[in-house]
Amino acid sequence: MSRINLGDWLAKDSEARLASVILDVASACVEISRLVRGGALSGALGEAGAVNVQGETQKKLDVLSNEICKARLGANAAIAAIASEEEDHAVGFERPDAPFLVAFDPLDGSSNIDVNVTIGTIFSVLPHRGGEAGDDAFLQPGRNQLASGYVSYGPQTCLMLALGGKTLQFTLDPATETFILTHERIVMPGGTPMIGANLSNLARWATPISEAARACLDGGTHNQRWVGSMVADIHRMLHQGGVFLYPGQVDKPNGKLRLLYECNPIALLVANAGGASFFGARRVLEIEPETLHQRIGFASGDPELLTLLRVTA
Ligand code: AHG
Ligand code: MN
Ligand code: MN
Ligand code: MN
Repeated sequence: MSRINLGDWLAKDSEARLASVILDVASACVEISRLVRGGALSGALGEAGAVNVQGETQKKLDVLSNEICKARLGANAAIAAIASEEEDHAVGFERPDAPFLVAFDPLDGSSNIDVNVTIGTIFSVLPHRGGEAGDDAFLQPGRNQLASGYVSYGPQTCLMLALGGKTLQFTLDPATETFILTHERIVMPGGTPMIGANLSNLARWATPISEAARACLDGGTHNQRWVGSMVADIHRMLHQGGVFLYPGQVDKPNGKLRLLYECNPIALLVANAGGASFFGARRVLEIEPETLHQRIGFASGDPELLTLLRVTA
């Protein structure tokens, strides 16, 4: 395949201002990738000491990544506001006519930062419909997303992008620090007996899923993986198939994952790759958000396996 970089690929037929937003996200992630790869040498490990709006103790890399994303996106005149896992509220840029909003999880998989396991950055681009760009402007269903994706900081640094009805992957060339198109269209394989889930929660999942998953695993017909970084577990699923489960629990009906900057961007990637994503019986991309940091139960991937696991029952 001839080598084409992200900028040239976007220039072919993407709207120029949307392309600039995606390129700025990618540039921010190259900066984050440098910090990740330096680890202890770049002062990127350990705790920052503060507690974020989620009630989580922030890691230094959560804070550093958030600042990098905010600075880079805040400098793009096409962006009216950003929302971040690490910000209590939307951050507006006094640009009432700017066409885009960007929600992001600057560092996904924080529990893996200090143990050298794959982590990432997740982003979601929404239309800004004019006026004040506060929290409420972001409360749009995931089907409104104009683009979404993640950058995975693993053995390779990869950009997975949902745009124009397709999911495609770019891989960072370390020598030039440019993202090169390596997968023109990701189509998730069917029939893979793989369940991505943290099974320490199995007994607390809603009953139908819990029993169905236990039957698959105890029966020896299905395998299980759990990295603990959503981007890593989803990246495996997009390439190899299977499902990703973080359902609601009897003690946490809305589960753990955040709708606006984790579930919606991932759900668009998965939908474009032939999969589906649900919260109970509801399709994730159809959910009307009520609050900026709203959590939902999340079951995503191979539609047939999701049915076998009774995630919509
Ligand atoms: P974040 O690090 O951005 O807070 O997200 C962590 C999320 C997600 O990446 C992962 O799938 C999930 O938390 C893991 O949860 P458990 O540690 O409960 O398995
Ligand atoms: Mn996350
Ligand atoms: Mn995070
Ligand atoms: Mn977090």
